[in-house]
Parts: sequence; structure tokens; C-alpha cells
Amino acid sequence: MKKIGIMTTGGDCSGLNTVIQRIYRGSTMRGWRVIGIEDGTDGLATNPPRFIEFNENTLPIEYARLAGSFLHSGRPSALNFETAVERGKIKQFNNQLKKSLQQLRLDALILIGGNGSISLAWCNKDIYDGLQLICIPKTIDMDIPLTQRTIGFETAVQQLTTFCDQLMLTARSHHRWFVVQTMGRDCGQLALNSGVAVGARVILIPEIKFDVNSVIEHIKQTPEDHGIILVSEGISLRGHSGRPADMISRKLTAAGIPNRAVFPEHTQRVGDTVATDRLLATRMADCALNAIANNETYVMTAITDCECKTISLQDFFEAGDITSDPNIPDVKTSDAYVSPDDPLLQIATNLGIYIGETK
Ligand code: F6P
Repeated sequence: MKKIGIMTTGGDCSGLNTVIQRIYRGSTMRGWRVIGIEDGTDGLATNPPRFIEFNENTLPIEYARLAGSFLHSGRPSALNFETAVERGKIKQFNNQLKKSLQQLRLDALILIGGNGSISLAWCNKDIYDGLQLICIPKTIDMDIPLTQRTIGFETAVQQLTTFCDQLMLTARSHHRWFVVQTMGRDCGQLALNSGVAVGARVILIPEIKFDVNSVIEHIKQTPEDHGIILVSEGISLRGHSGRPADMISRKLTAAGIPNRAVFPEHTQRVGDTVATDRLLATRMADCALNAIANNETYVMTAITDCECKTISLQDFFEAGDITSDPNIPDVKTSDAYVSPDDPLLQIATNLGIYIGETK
């Protein structure tokens, strides 16, 4: 009988509980035992490691659609890879993770994480010596190289769409615009996809330069006197500081365009998991369990051309833009962005959405 560990790391999103529940179901079908590590790497960094043993009642199916991580995502004060590097404790931290994994006598660990966690797992691969490491990509940012989908993204797009649909009604009543700031870090996927879904008139993303005067002209020329302007949190405006939506809002106000800036913030991460995310979570859980059965290790589940398969962590790491935190140069992550060839950019332009200076 194999013993499988599950761990969720990084920011939470919808779909984590679905993937955990599906891994448990699939494991019991194979006669495998499952434990869940509590609080991500924090649960391994403590001695003894903190975990729960799964049984039929641990995560009932009706809770599997709920957002958040049933296994938690790490206590605010805890050491993680970044803070351990910052505090010069990375060696002890890595040793403790390795020791805990050996103590748990796992055959395989399924790490459900974002590009940061998966990059760090690859860069510190010795920790997982002696067990199979299978990663599953989750993030509302959709910034993970070599996969066309990440768990949580579709639900976040739905959350933003619903949020903007509601704003549209008050926008119409008051003949005003709403500048809505999305999450996504330095990747514009969330803003781009939600903006097109909502029918925004302007979408500003970090990957495409924009001219604020063109934004103003575009809004003045639209036949409507109200609507949505979606701006990604990763954009910047030369000579201005503060939150991007506030900066754009101030410029519009100065140009005589009535508007308000709004911030959906963490509501983007907490929607009831939409069916497409549940299907994705199920496909990725199944793919991860098959990878364990096939004795694979250091792999990530990925969607490529509609198919769910595993790719090596080395390929994942090398495929992205490798960046390091200016304050913590030892921590490297492999990032994906909106490609200039993304068909949605042309579609948005064809539909009269200003997305920046693309020519
Ligand atoms: O990476 C996921 C994400 O939600 C980003 O989109 C956002 O910038 C960040 O996490 C917010 O982090 P926190 O929950 O720590 O404020």
C-alpha cells in the first residue's frame, strides 16, 4: 500500500478542496493511504510534522466545492522558503523539511502550488529525495509556464465577471465609469479574460504599454456614458505612485470623466468553485495519481492542447522567464505572461476594447 502526502502552498484559490478531495477518492480506489500536511511547508518545518490522516469523513464531497484550503496555507509568522532565505535560515529550513518527509515515510508527495512554490521545489529538489514529487498548478494569476490552465483561474474570472456585472447597473444609473483593479501580480491573464467576459471598454495589463491620453480619448469616443475599465494590479504609470486603479481614476476625473475606483481584492479568490475548475481539478488529480502509479517524479500536471499530462519540472522551470526577487536573489521563480500572440488581444481590439499601444 502506498502512502501519499498532499500539501497546498502559497496563496489560496477556489478548487483546492476539490483537488484534495479527488486525490483522496482516487487514492482509496487504488487502496492507497492519504495524509494531508497542514499549513504547507510550515507543517513540515515544525518538529514533529503536523498532518492529518484522511478518512471518508475528513473532507465530505459537499465541502469540496468551497474555496480556501482545507489544509490551510501557512501561519503568517511561519518560516517559508522566502522568509527563511531572508533570515539566513534556509539551510536549517531545508534540512527540517527533508527530515520531516523522511519521518512521514511517504511514497509520494503531491504539492499543489503556484509558480513560486513549484519553482522552489525544483530549485531545492534534494528535499524530496527518496519519494515521488508530483506538482499540481493552481493560481488565479495563470502565470505558470507550459500549462494552458491553472486551478482557480476560471472561478476568479467568474467572480470578477459577477462583480463587474453588478457594478454595471449602478454605473448606468449614475452615468459613470468604474475602474476595477484586478489581482494577477505582473501577469495580465486575469484582467484580460475577465475584461473580455464583462465587455469592458478598456483593459490595461502589465505586458502591454498604454497611453493614458489614449484611454481618455477612447472613453470619450465610446457611445456609452458608463461602463467598466479593468486594470491589472501590475500596471504602472510613469511619474505616479499608489494603486493603479486610483492613478487611472484620477486622470479620468481630471479629464472630466465621472468615475470611481473599486477593489474586489480577495473576493477574487473565494468563489464557489465553478464546474470548469472542478473538472480541471479532477483531471489533474487523476493525472497526478497516474504519475505516481507510473513511478514518475519531479513532474507537474499540465494542460496542453486540451490534454492533461505530466511535464518535467526541469522543462517547466526552463520554459518561463526566470526572475529573482531583488531583495532575495537566491529565490528564483519561472514566470509566464500574456503572449503578444494571444488571440484574445486581437479579439478585444476587434470588439472596440482599448488594450494599449499594440501597433
Ligand atoms: O498570487 C495570487 C495573488 O492573489 C495575487 O494575484 C495577489 O497579488 C496576491 O496573491 C495577494 O497576496 P496576499 O493574499 O498575500 O495579499
